[in-house]
Amino acid sequence: MTQTLALLGGTPAVDKSLKVNWPIVTDADKKAVMKVLDEGPLWALGGDDGLIAPEMIGLETEFAHFVGAKYALACNGGTAALHMAIAAAGVGPGDEVITTPYSFLATPVAVLHNGGVPIFADIDPKTYNIDPAEIEKKITSRTKALLPVHVHGVPADMDRINAIAKQHNLIVIEDACQAPGSKYKGRPAGSLGQMAAFSLNGTKNFAVGEGGLFATSDDTFRARANMVRMVGEGLPSWDRTMEFQHLIAWNYRFQEMPAAFGRSQLKRLPQYNAQARANGQALSKAIAGVKGVEAPFVPADCETIYHKYRMRLHPDQLDLPITGVAFRDTLQAALEAEGVDAPVWLHAPLPAHPIFQVRDGFGHGYPWTVGHKDLRYHAADYPKAQHLVDNSLVICSELNPIYCQTAKLIDQYAAAIHKVLSNRDGLIAAGKKLGKQ
Ligand SMILES: Cc1ncc(COP(=O)(O)O)c(C=O)c1O
Repeated sequence: MTQTLALLGGTPAVDKSLKVNWPIVTDADKKAVMKVLDEGPLWALGGDDGLIAPEMIGLETEFAHFVGAKYALACNGGTAALHMAIAAAGVGPGDEVITTPYSFLATPVAVLHNGGVPIFADIDPKTYNIDPAEIEKKITSRTKALLPVHVHGVPADMDRINAIAKQHNLIVIEDACQAPGSKYKGRPAGSLGQMAAFSLNGTKNFAVGEGGLFATSDDTFRARANMVRMVGEGLPSWDRTMEFQHLIAWNYRFQEMPAAFGRSQLKRLPQYNAQARANGQALSKAIAGVKGVEAPFVPADCETIYHKYRMRLHPDQLDLPITGVAFRDTLQAALEAEGVDAPVWLHAPLPAHPIFQVRDGFGHGYPWTVGHKDLRYHAADYPKAQHLVDNSLVICSELNPIYCQTAKLIDQYAAAIHKVLSNRDGLIAAGKKLGKQ
């Protein structure tokens, strides 16, 4: 029997009181932070043998182990970690870095921070990640690095990306900000390129509040990235060559309190990732066969951490008078009225954002004017990313993400998706009510 949609006066399908807020802070976390406040130091001090920062160095060591890299460097954000990698790769003014149009803005912006020029290659519509075949079409004599993103936790096709990089002598940097704990053919994100960046932002599976981690197994990249983070200083201070500033650098330093919180939380990250997988798989199973939506695809040789659970929408399967963005927005309103969090996340592919349309990052058109005559970005050149933006919704929000919800709430979300999508007349009425047709 069709039930009246909550948007049209029916009873909501979800008991909102079941939602669990993120991030979770335990007594052990509080104890770890209090220890820093009681005993110090609060920040990394320079000592004769290197930095005195037991929590930060502990976090770096433990995280490097977690992602299968030789080194990690803690810094104040995923954007900073990305920029450290771009700078360490030697990307300079006018150099091109190929990346995806479907990511958070920080990905291409970190390229701009070093004067590099982002070049976008469209996505694989199945995985939502950069398509290696599209990368090949974008390589020029100026290409210096490839910057794939493991978007929503699904690893990019790294074997193919690394093969292209090898053939053209390019450096590969993983934007793993959404993927701490994801695996590609059994290997962890963070060990799949030459350098990687992770975010500790409060919305992430590994959520410290703000912070980032850079990872590499290469000594030179590590030394350069460290200088970028440390205002040019290289430690230990007994190394006289390190007393001088060698390159333009920033202050991306981290602090002991969030490092202590991060170390305590890192112990639980595998548990949160497992919960995300269990919930993601349960939801995918429950909505399989529901007309109008498709569960996210996870390649058989990959393990995702469902940083975001993104459903594809297929209004054509319902023979509705509303399609594309009108259908997406109607479905979103109908699901939210039922109590399901259903954000869009990313309202336009990155090349359509004003910074890439105006192209005046630093003033005087820099860095686009350094080596390019008239480089322009046209959203229409990324039809697969645009189609995904217009025809998908995330289930679960950043405040109540999939990694900490109960199976009971996920069951109710699945029931709500069934309820809304099986009510074709209700969806048409909802579209009319919202002025979508
Ligand atoms: C894919 C991606 N790259 C980069 C970042 C930047 O990380 P942060 O916000 O920690 O600077 C984020 C998250 O915010 C992200 O999702």
